[in-house]
Amino acid sequence: MALDVVLVRLLIIAAVASVLPARGRADGAAGLAIGFYNEKCPGAEDLVLEEMRDIVHEDRTLGPALLRLLFHDCFVRGCDASIMLKSRSKKGERDAKPMSYSLRGFDEVERIKAKLEEACPLTVSCADIIIMAARDAVYLNNGPRFPVETGRRDGKVSNCVDAENDLAPPNANIVDLKTYFSVKNLSWKDLVVLSGSHTIGSSQCAAFAGDRLYNHSGKGMQDPTLNKTYAPDLRMMCEAGNETDTTPVSMDPGSPHEFDLSYYRDVYSNKGLFVSDQALLDDKLTHDYVARMAAAPSPDEFFDDYAAAMINMGRMEVLTGHNGEIRKICGAYVD
Ligand code: HEM
Ligand SMILES: *[C@@H]1O[C@H](CO)[C@@H](O)[C@H](O)[C@H]1NC(C)=O
Ligand SMILES: *[C@@H]1O[C@H](CO)[C@@H](O)[C@H](O)[C@H]1NC(C)=O
Ligand SMILES: *[C@@H]1O[C@H](CO)[C@@H](O)[C@H](O)[C@H]1NC(C)=O
Ligand SMILES: *[C@@H]1O[C@H](CO)[C@@H](O)[C@H](O)[C@H]1NC(C)=O
Repeated sequence: MALDVVLVRLLIIAAVASVLPARGRADGAAGLAIGFYNEKCPGAEDLVLEEMRDIVHEDRTLGPALLRLLFHDCFVRGCDASIMLKSRSKKGERDAKPMSYSLRGFDEVERIKAKLEEACPLTVSCADIIIMAARDAVYLNNGPRFPVETGRRDGKVSNCVDAENDLAPPNANIVDLKTYFSVKNLSWKDLVVLSGSHTIGSSQCAAFAGDRLYNHSGKGMQDPTLNKTYAPDLRMMCEAGNETDTTPVSMDPGSPHEFDLSYYRDVYSNKGLFVSDQALLDDKLTHDYVARMAAAPSPDEFFDDYAAAMINMGRMEVLTGHNGEIRKICGAYVD
């Protein structure tokens, strides 16, 4: 091939390559971009990390809490910080059924927001703060650090019925879990990878003791799929018949503050805490992923998958451009 032909081809490839990502971003991610605040509020991401370091240093349980807050925000009306909104009539997302009462991290989002308002007034959305804080929570629990897209704007609607419909309960089976994810355009892989978030943090007894320890399927028995050498440990922590037992139980008791592969080792040895964790063994594809990660010598593949799945979840029904608003107080009252 003549040199000039090669050069022309290289030029065409370079031109196409420089156009494609930009177009992919504008269409595929609806106005989101990595580094959206680079010019609008330089240092915004560093400021979030700095504040998260202090928050996690003061109370290490807040890292997992903020990661879970992202999940609840995104699945209900999209990643728009509607989870933060307050309702005097108790009809907001925050007021949804008992499992949402244990959500924490609201004050910390507000605290980060206050810092960003000092640096760049009315510029960084609450929705972006939630995803940046969640990303940093993973990192500060010795997990990977990965880029997240920003450019979301804040929604103004919060409705407890949406939260009740769109969040999978901890006793969901694999068919239901895949449905909860697929209606939000997330795949079986996003499901099994994002469930790996349960490698950090804790649950209240009330969320699982009935289903797994004392009254499985309403039959007054222990879940037969729960590891029989592990069950007594859980029974010691959670008393029978108390549906409001708030005692915290680590979801990955071997390393509750390490973002690592041990969630998959737990699930693979039938020591996942929720029915929804154990259920990942009931589908060929999710089972195989769990098995592979349980045996993996390095977490690199999981970390790469996790970064990709967070991008996917972070794109869920976002408001961008002129939609929504940039709120000054994330937890404003809607009524
Ligand atoms: C697949 C469906 C899921 C179900 C059924 C589920 C259910 C739960 C439940 C019941 C708790 C304990 C709540 C409590 O009693 O305090 C919990 C905790 C948690 N979840 Fe999930 N979850 C799911 C997916 C996710 C996803 C996608 C993420 C993040 C991307 C996530 C992150 C967390 C974290 C970090 C905690 C610990 C919170 C803390 O320590 O304060 N979960 N989850
Ligand atoms: C899922 O994707 C379809 C097609 O791109 C889109 O119309 C729909 O709004 C998306 N749904 C959610 C919940 O993101
Ligand atoms: C177990 O669940 C069933 C069905 O939900 C209920 O009728 C029964 O009272 C429960 N038993 C206990 C001991 O909580
Ligand atoms: C249930 O557990 C909580 C602690 O999480 C305790 O305060 C409460 O008294 C218990 N209720 C009953 C009926 O034992
Ligand atoms: C139960 O857990 C133990 C480790 O705690 C493991 O050796 C055993 O294989 C597990 N049993 C089942 C049936 O998964």
